[in-house]
Amino acid sequence: MKIIALCGSPRRSHTRTGQLTRELLAGAAAAGAETEYVDIGQLKLHFCLACDKCHELGHCVQKDDFEPFMEKVLAADGFVLASPVYCYQVSAQLKVFIDRLGRYIHCQKLLGKYGAVVATAGGDGQEQTTDYLSFMLLQLGAQTSGRLAVTLEEDGPVPAGSPLLAQARQTGADLVRAIKEKTEYPEQRQAQEGIRAYFCDVVNRRRDRWPAEYEYFKQQGWL
Ligand SMILES: Cc1cc2nc3c(=O)[nH]c(=O)nc-3n(C[C@H](O)[C@H](O)[C@H](O)COP(=O)(O)O)c2cc1C
Repeated sequence: MKIIALCGSPRRSHTRTGQLTRELLAGAAAAGAETEYVDIGQLKLHFCLACDKCHELGHCVQKDDFEPFMEKVLAADGFVLASPVYCYQVSAQLKVFIDRLGRYIHCQKLLGKYGAVVATAGGDGQEQTTDYLSFMLLQLGAQTSGRLAVTLEEDGPVPAGSPLLAQARQTGADLVRAIKEKTEYPEQRQAQEGIRAYFCDVVNRRRDRWPAEYEYFKQQGWL
């Protein structure tokens, strides 16, 4: 079992979001998963060009780290999305990545996978940020097994012994359990079915312009 985490903080070794995400992964590793932590700064990611070529061709035309990274996500069982709260939302760094996910969202390419989300704020905004991150996992087809929405009013790292660290490890262990037991979250599934019905209509109407997505939907038996 493999779990990959992407942290959208630019703070490298000082990131508190990353600290909690690593702790989450430690909990997942203790429960038996192989884990990988990816700092968004390690990836070369360009802005989405809005060229729609991904829908037409089935891959992004930009030569950067996006598609190789997504290959890793597709090969994994679990995906953790983590962000500091910037102006009450995800960081711009992570949003650049999210904007590139168009075809993965239309095709719900992470169906059958599980995820967890992490957001840390200095004061407020952590709930809407984790809501957004889990909504993106939902759109991708993954079910969210847990979330860490945290306010850290003091500067610096989360102190050793903080209950937040234990909570993070538990969130990692819960993610492993959801993957092992193939836990179903009926509300998430129902929402995904509604989203799929919507995209079936969109892709069917654009089948001449988006042949790659049309073919994918046909292969899945959705059209
Ligand atoms: C550009 C910027 C915007 C921020 N906006 C908010 C905000 O809207 N609400 C908040 O509570 N904290 C805000 N903060 C504080 C961070 O969310 C907080 O320090 C977070 O824990 C940083 O995580 P990191 O150490 O992983 O980078 C902001 C910080 C920066 C640099």
